[in-house]
Amino acid sequence: MITKKSYRLFTAYIMSMRTSYNNKSTTFLEKDIEIKDPIHIFEKWFNLVKSDPRTVEANAMCLSTSTKTGLPSARFVLLKGYSKDGFIFFTHYTSRKGQELEENPVAALTFYWEHYSRCVRIEGAVEKLPFSKADDYFSKRPYQSQIGALCSDQSKAVSGRDILEKKAEELKTQYKEGEVPRPSQWGGYIVKPTYFEFWQGQTDRIHDRIVFRKPGPNEPDGVLTHKAEDGWMYERLNP
Ligand SMILES: Cc1cc2nc3c(=O)[nH]c(=O)nc-3n(C[C@H](O)[C@H](O)[C@H](O)COP(=O)(O)O)c2cc1C
Repeated sequence: MITKKSYRLFTAYIMSMRTSYNNKSTTFLEKDIEIKDPIHIFEKWFNLVKSDPRTVEANAMCLSTSTKTGLPSARFVLLKGYSKDGFIFFTHYTSRKGQELEENPVAALTFYWEHYSRCVRIEGAVEKLPFSKADDYFSKRPYQSQIGALCSDQSKAVSGRDILEKKAEELKTQYKEGEVPRPSQWGGYIVKPTYFEFWQGQTDRIHDRIVFRKPGPNEPDGVLTHKAEDGWMYERLNP
């Protein structure tokens, strides 16, 4: 049982948790961004992080969706491709996220790369990819991952793990390697970005936040908002 005293001690312990991020040499300044294009910056940061042996999954990102009445939900998914057109992930269309994207096709993606004290936030409208892309990616997944996807009715309740393991065994006898069909409601989504934020943590807590978004009326004004490449503009936010 959590007593008032243990609650206080526990809270105090969490409150004292404090990480040093970076020294001033890693400040993220506008003048140091050689190409003011958010995809280019994302690529630079992503490549740096993924080539670092300390990184486990550079492509893990928190995907936030919401119902049409605005009830939010968030979970991690893996980024499986990106370009100027958008950011791609694969999942079950009948899952909770799939249902929320059906009724409210917008999403936010958040990457956090702790070894670099960096975070990237992306927001945009979401579209389903053609099933041909899902077929292509599904066929390249390891056998066990294919079976796992096929045996899951994602986000629905199940009475025990044994039910899933039994189903997986049955599917393995039914389908040999190279024969597993893509689940009919498993496919890709693309998030088409209209907003990027690049966050660089600093030990002095004066963190850098540079946002790229599409200009509104009278923007960029050359003071707070500045012209960038390819129809984007950028601005710095208070941390
Ligand atoms: C690092 C990580 C990566 C994941 N990648 C995926 C993924 O690419 N696709 C997916 O459907 N679920 C993925 N999951 C599982 C989801 O977080 C989640 O449990 C599942 O998609 C069901 O979410 P929902 O009920 O909100 O739809 C991943 C989980 C973690 C922790």
